[in-house]
Amino acid sequence: MRILIYTGKGGVGKTSVAAATALRAARMGYRTMLMSTDAAHSVSDSLEVPLSGKITRVEENLDAMEVDMLHELETRWKEVQGYITNFMMSQGLDGITSKEMAVLPGMELMSALFYVEDFYKRDAYDLVVMDTAPTGETLRLLSFPEVSEWYSEKLYKMVKNMLKIARMTVGRVVDTPLPSEDLLRDLEDMAARMRRVQAILTDPKITSIRLVVNPEKMVINETKRAFTYFCLYGLTVDGLVVNRLYPEDSNNGCFKEKIEEQRKYMQVIKESFSPLQVMTSYQQPVELVGIKSLEKLGDMVFGDLDPTVPLSLDKPLEIFSEDEFDIVSIKLPFTMKEQVNLFKTADSLLVEVGHYRRSLTLPVTLVNKEPVKAEFKEGRLLIGFKEVGKDDRSRAS
Ligand SMILES: Nc1ncnc2c1ncn2[C@@H]1O[C@H](COP(=O)(O)OP(=O)(O)OP(=O)(O)O)[C@@H](O)[C@H]1O
Ligand SMILES: [Mg+2]
Repeated sequence: MRILIYTGKGGVGKTSVAAATALRAARMGYRTMLMSTDAAHSVSDSLEVPLSGKITRVEENLDAMEVDMLHELETRWKEVQGYITNFMMSQGLDGITSKEMAVLPGMELMSALFYVEDFYKRDAYDLVVMDTAPTGETLRLLSFPEVSEWYSEKLYKMVKNMLKIARMTVGRVVDTPLPSEDLLRDLEDMAARMRRVQAILTDPKITSIRLVVNPEKMVINETKRAFTYFCLYGLTVDGLVVNRLYPEDSNNGCFKEKIEEQRKYMQVIKESFSPLQVMTSYQQPVELVGIKSLEKLGDMVFGDLDPTVPLSLDKPLEIFSEDEFDIVSIKLPFTMKEQVNLFKTADSLLVEVGHYRRSLTLPVTLVNKEPVKAEFKEGRLLIGFKEVGKDDRSRAS
């Protein structure tokens, strides 16, 4: 199974390109799922087919769904939400606020990823295309390792400890509601699934992120930042779609300046994102809705390319040995050394770039070593680990 995740700034054409990709793949015979994880769903408008939180057949080989948080809360998150709500209410919060608080960070996206994991396990589709919310929000996808750790480690331990305390205090008055065995089982199950999702997302043979941009300065800048952060989190970006180009031959005088400007930005895009594969699509005279326009968009974007084939298998995160060092290599395009902060804790390495911070759990071989050097080489940050203080320790003993 392949997973394509489209992301980009608001309004650049993510939904249209995602729908066009799914339609094209389905017509090529791939069993395809088009899934929207944007709370402001618009896949249904784009395809002109009514959709819901349940899987709907659009045409042969093409299914679609718009993840519906209310439906998810009532089913997948029922135990978790119920418990948190009761807990909050026992602490004196009113019912509505408690229910609101029970919507945990990243739940929407996580629900979508649970579907993906399930499709993967059942080999239900050849391709899953995900249409996401604008970049800012989708960057949360990046923090998936941290979010999942929070659920699987912190929340689980917290609930388990409460159960222990509650058992110890049996007989005394305990106001706090007890977590049920069902809840514990749910959390355990979710933690295991999250680890599987993480493995799926960081395998470039399975998952590719595709960026959608317009040839405009602000859009390009935001996309550059997003690209850096995706790399930081170990996700492979394999291509870029430049949408809404004006055809060079449109001889209309009033577009002349616009075309000139776009040509300049196209150059910037090619230089900045090289060697990423760049695909293009042109501004259409009418709004892009309905199957016919999406077919046309798919033709423009992909030409002879098979949309499901990975365009790059470049791993943004690698660990290898070189001389006496163990090297952690992170692809960090558009980043200067001064923007990076590194901290080593007991078993992880914190890498901070701008507002984003990734906590990398280190392999056991690196736990007793310290980062002793860092350098940038060809857009990658190379951090050299070495055992330090060993001589001192042996002298001391
Ligand atoms: N190449 C194009 N030519 C003409 N109209 C386009 C083109 N690409 C997108 N549009 C139109 O622009 C609008 C925004 O497109 P779309 O919904 O695909 O963007 P989006 O990135 O998903 O937006 P959002 O961030 O709001 O989810 C839609 O009305 C769509 O029909
Ligand atoms: Mg959209």
